Amino acid sequence: MLLKVVRDLIRNRNTPPASDILRLARELLSRSRHEDAIEILTTLLKHEPACVEALILCGTAKREAGRSGEALSDLARALVLAPDDPVGLYEMAATSYMLDDMRRAIEYCERARRVAPEFNKPFALLAQLRLGGAFYLDVLARILDHVKPRTYVEIGIFQGGSLRLAKPPTLAIGIDPNPHLVEPLAGNHKVFAETSDAFFAGRDLRAELGGLPVDLAFIDGMHHFEFALRDFANLERHGARDSTILIHDCYPVDRESAARDPRDTNWSGDIWRLIVLLKKYRPDLSVHTIGAPPTGLGLVRNLDPGSCYLHEHHDLLRDEFLELDYSYLDTDMGGKLNLFPNDWENIRAALGKQGGRGEATDSP
Ligand SMILES: C[S@@+](CC[C@H](N)C(=O)[O-])C[C@H]1O[C@@H](n2cnc3c(N)ncnc32)[C@H](O)[C@@H]1O
Repeated sequence: MLLKVVRDLIRNRNTPPASDILRLARELLSRSRHEDAIEILTTLLKHEPACVEALILCGTAKREAGRSGEALSDLARALVLAPDDPVGLYEMAATSYMLDDMRRAIEYCERARRVAPEFNKPFALLAQLRLGGAFYLDVLARILDHVKPRTYVEIGIFQGGSLRLAKPPTLAIGIDPNPHLVEPLAGNHKVFAETSDAFFAGRDLRAELGGLPVDLAFIDGMHHFEFALRDFANLERHGARDSTILIHDCYPVDRESAARDPRDTNWSGDIWRLIVLLKKYRPDLSVHTIGAPPTGLGLVRNLDPGSCYLHEHHDLLRDEFLELDYSYLDTDMGGKLNLFPNDWENIRAALGKQGGRGEATDSP
């Protein structure tokens, strides 16, 4: 109805205010009515060719309608007028991605990240471009399903989305000082609302697990690497040689997301330092980073529950690796973080014998 009014006004050479046309175009876009949005935006641009928002919206509508080649020229004009517009930069990245121009897609994502680090879309697209394949929660679900661990311990549960992936009969323990559970816990879940350091200082994890070792663990708590280092050492102590420890956020998308000062969104922190540390000081471990978006998933095996090295050298290790600047990753980041293709066959092979438990249960 509103679209008809706008069309009639235009037909009578009575163009409505730009703000009304833009509002209507946004609404049409949200309902996937791309061609209608393009029609009224094209009219607006005849009258106001330097309207940046109209150019970006028109580019977005054309990209979403599969007209990426045409979208490029609208977006290029918008970015001449407003080179730092984060939405324009993101749309240029997304359009380049659709046109298979990965180099340009990454370049525009990075520019959008620099001007608007909290804007989620360029972060998500950059992560997909850099890593690709299944999202970390899907990889975690598949690992849980394959390994069928008797016990699972998760540090940092937030809303419980990842913890809930552990299904009965797995006994699953979550540790988080500030859980925001959005659904009630299942019978096989138990949550301790405290920091992981407090938990390990005050409780006996093995007793909480009914005398069993940790078969599978997922570290996703405080995003400063020395916290993850202590979490790793504590979990290893309670594991078995054949257990697996997963570590989230090992492969940061960029320097911004790897900063130590906490961010509300898109924050991987400096967990990547833990991978470099384990490679250097624990060569006995098998350490890989699965290239799972958005920020990589560390997979550590061949644990040594008797090892005291990380505990005993904690302060020295923390100080040494805090010195390591992000620029260390400027060359051969994949090699330095043992990046591993996000492909189920590779992951399954890396799980080795532990996966065998799942295989046996899977077979008829
Ligand atoms: C990124 S969220 C976890 C997300 C969750 N694992 C998922 O994938 O849906 C990080 C969580 O770590 C928790 N956290 C922060 N500091 C912690 C600490 N010292 N020990 C344990 N958890 C911590 C926060 O409260 C937050 O809920």
